Amino acid sequence: MTETSSIPVITIDGPTASGKGTIAHQVAERLGWHTLDSGALYRLTALSCLRRQVDAKDESEVQRVAADLDIRFQHPRIFLEGEDVTEAIRQEQVGNLASQVAVMPGVRGALLQRQRDFRVAPGLVGDGRDMGTVVFPDAPLKIFLLADAEVRAERRCKQLNEKGISANLASLLADLRARDERDRTRAHAPLVPAQDAHIVDSSRLSIEETVNIVLDLWSGVSFPSA
Ligand code: DC
Repeated sequence: MTETSSIPVITIDGPTASGKGTIAHQVAERLGWHTLDSGALYRLTALSCLRRQVDAKDESEVQRVAADLDIRFQHPRIFLEGEDVTEAIRQEQVGNLASQVAVMPGVRGALLQRQRDFRVAPGLVGDGRDMGTVVFPDAPLKIFLLADAEVRAERRCKQLNEKGISANLASLLADLRARDERDRTRAHAPLVPAQDAHIVDSSRLSIEETVNIVLDLWSGVSFPSA
């Protein structure tokens, strides 16, 4: 069996709508690696709570939901109990609830090993808030992806509009700021760059430019099996 620490991981953490998911997928595609969208696990927990009418303030109940999640990632689709919920988990209501249940240490603990199980050869690109600080602290390359709040709100608005979902820029910006604040100031695994993370501000960068910066950084890493 391969020691998981010998499998390379690139972590991409950052605030909501910073483009982490898109960058993570493109980097993984270029390297032929796997991906972990850790935010989806929190979103799936939130959606499952909504559907089961679980009191989202009751930590032990939410922790149970997180521990028992029956999910399947079949890129680009995501399934909950066999049902395709790819679009459902992207709703703002679900994202906001995800950010609320993510403050609960019991929920984070229930999802920790599930995230680490994604570390399989030839490598993993994981995106989220605590990939570099908590889930994969030994990752040989850690990125902290930033973008101005206005730029992120515009990107999110465009994304939603493209999916035919109407969105209001001002309320998206307010939601995004509230979520950033909650993610940043929570006691457990807050959104902070790991000490050894490279900070990349993508406000004025295209997706391709950002992907190339990450790949350049990776080519400079000396990792045993890189
Ligand atoms: O990346 P996202 O917007 O899909 O994440 C949804 C929420 O999940 C986010 O507001 C905070 C939480 N989250 C987290 O706490 N830790 C992670 N590694 C990923 C997401």
